[in-house]
Amino acid sequence: DATAPQQTERTLVLVKPDGVERGLTGEVLRRIEAKGYRLVALELRQLDRETAARHYAEHEGKPFFEPLLEFITSGPLVAAVFEGQRVIEGFRSIAGATDPTVAAPGSIRGDLARDWGRKVIANIVHGSDSPESAAREIAIYFPGLA
Ligand code: TYD
Ligand code: MG
Repeated sequence: DATAPQQTERTLVLVKPDGVERGLTGEVLRRIEAKGYRLVALELRQLDRETAARHYAEHEGKPFFEPLLEFITSGPLVAAVFEGQRVIEGFRSIAGATDPTVAAPGSIRGDLARDWGRKVIANIVHGSDSPESAAREIAIYFPGLA
């Protein structure tokens, strides 16, 4: 219910290795800040395979799982936590659909990503999909965050 008062919440955002490699980190963070969400944690890091598998545990066994681990560990990524009322839903709206070919123009994926003919979809960003996922994922990247 968009008219009911909402508690503030947090989401984990990643600028994936394709976004960092293409120099889009600032553009992504700018869009989220311009929307009005508050940045509460930020780090450039290189994931190892174990951490990547932990992050994407829900996708284990799917055909794109191995390519996804290879992709997400292929170079540095930027992990961030943003805060605000309904930020989980709000960021996923800014990010756009998983498949960048059909992601809405105006969204991060719709404006900045495309199909590169790879075994895994390179779509610039990750965002948590529920309060439970956000808590789990924030603990992976920022264990010290209250
Ligand atoms: P998913 O959690 O379904 O998408 P989202 O990032 O929008 O929450 O999938 C995680 C990532 O796995 C997705 O961003 C790109 C990749 N992926 C593929 O490469 N092929 C696929 O068919 C799907 C569903 C995802
Ligand atoms: Mg997901």
